Amino acid sequence: MAFKAPRGTRDILPDEASRWEFLENSFRERCRLYGFQEIRTPIFEHTELFVRSVGESSDIVSKEMYTFHDRSGRSLTLRPEGTAAVVRAYLENGLHEKPHPVKLYYFGPMFRYDRPQAGRYRQFHQFGLELFGSPQPSADVEIMALSYDMLRSLPLPEFRLELNSVGCRECRPGYRERLREYLRFREEELCPDCSRRYRENPLRVLDCKKPECKDLSAGAPLLTQSLCPQCAGHLARVRELLERLELPYVLNPRLVRGLDYYTRTAFEFVAPELGAQASLGGGGRYDALVEECGGPPTPGVGVAFGLERIILLADWKERLEAGPVPVFLAVAGEGLEEEALLLAREIRALGVPAEVELGGRSLKSQMKYAGKKGFARVIIIGSRELEQDRFLWRDMVDGSQVLVSREELRQRLLEQEG
Ligand code: HAM
Repeated sequence: MAFKAPRGTRDILPDEASRWEFLENSFRERCRLYGFQEIRTPIFEHTELFVRSVGESSDIVSKEMYTFHDRSGRSLTLRPEGTAAVVRAYLENGLHEKPHPVKLYYFGPMFRYDRPQAGRYRQFHQFGLELFGSPQPSADVEIMALSYDMLRSLPLPEFRLELNSVGCRECRPGYRERLREYLRFREEELCPDCSRRYRENPLRVLDCKKPECKDLSAGAPLLTQSLCPQCAGHLARVRELLERLELPYVLNPRLVRGLDYYTRTAFEFVAPELGAQASLGGGGRYDALVEECGGPPTPGVGVAFGLERIILLADWKERLEAGPVPVFLAVAGEGLEEEALLLAREIRALGVPAEVELGGRSLKSQMKYAGKKGFARVIIIGSRELEQDRFLWRDMVDGSQVLVSREELRQRLLEQEG
C-alpha cells in the first residue's frame, strides 16, 4: 500500500519551494530594515503554555490542538501559533532584561486540527513579528507598516487592513456584560458553537460566520462605543498615525480575534479573493500576556501571516528574483565528463548555476532533456573544440549555435541576466 500524507498536510515541491524562498527572503529583508531579529523556538511546548495564553475558551485550545503525552507522561502540544512560544522564550532566556523594545520575527510550521479546505490546513506556516516593551500607538503602527511593506513586496491582488480595539481589562468586562444582555433573549437563535461562546466569551459571537449569528449580531452594541478613555485615545492615535503614513485601513468594530490575549488594538489583513479563508494575517496588542506567563508587566504587539494563503493568492508569473541564467553542460562523446565537471566548477564560481550531464546519454537525448527542463542555453563540450580551448554555445530559444573561446564563454555567461 502506498502511503499518503496525513489529511490537512501538504508537500511543498520544488517549483513551489522557489516561491517560498522568494517570500522568506523578501520578509527577512524587510525585517532587517526595521531592526527585527530572528528567533527560533521548538515545534512543541508544554500544553499549559497555550491553555494559559491563547485561552481555554478559544476554538484553538478547546478543539484544535495536537496534544499528546510523551513517554514520561508530560502533556505536550504542537504549537498552534507562535506568540505564546516567543513570550516563553523571551522570559526564559532573559531577553526581558535587554534594552527595549525587543523586536523579533519567526518563520515556521504551526498545527491546528481544523477542517481542511483551500487555504486551511492542519500543518500550515506562519511568518510572525513580536515587539515587546512599548505601550505606544507608534509600536502598533510600526508593526502594521512593516506588514504593509512585506505584503506590497509581493505580487498580491487587492487586500485591506481592518482595524478595531478590543479594549482592556478595565473596559472589556462591562462591554461583555452588555453584549451578553443583548444576546440573552436571542440565545436560542444562535448556532450551537455560539451558544457555548455566549456563556464563555460572548465577544466571539461577533466573529461567527454563520448567517444566523451574523444577522443576530448585526444589531449588537459595539465595543468601540464602550472603550475607556485610555483605550479610545490609543485607537484614535493609531488611526492618526496610519493616516499620516498613508496606510489605508477600514475600521471594523466587529473584528474580534480568535485568541484571548489581545488588548486594545486588533487588526487583520483581509484578501476578499480568498473567500472563506480571507485572512492573510492578523495580530494586535497583548499588554497583559507577558505578565500572565510569569514575567514582569510588559506591553507587546505583533502579527502573524499565513504563508500558504499568501502563496495561493499571489500571481507568481515573472516575479521570481532575476539572476544569472542557468546553463546545461552537454558532452559530445565519451570520456568528456571530467571536462564537464571542471568547466561546471569554473562556471559556478562565477555565480552562474550550471548542471552537467550525469546520465551518459547521447548528445541528442541530452539536448532533449535540456529542452524539457527549460534551459535557455547549453554549452556543448566536444573533443575537437576542446583541443583549441573552445566550446559550442547553443541558444535553445532560437536554435543558433556558435563556437566560443573560454573567455568569450565567461563574458556571455555573465552578460545576460534572466
Ligand atoms: P491567527 O489569526 O490565529 O493569529 O493566525 C494568523 C494567520 O495564520 C491567519 O491570518 C491565517 O492567515 C493563518 N492561519 C491560521 N490558521 C490557519 C490554517 N489552519 N491554515 C492556514 N493558515 C492559517 C495568530 O496566530 C497570532 N499568534 C498572531 C499574532 C502574533 N498576534 C500577535 N502576534
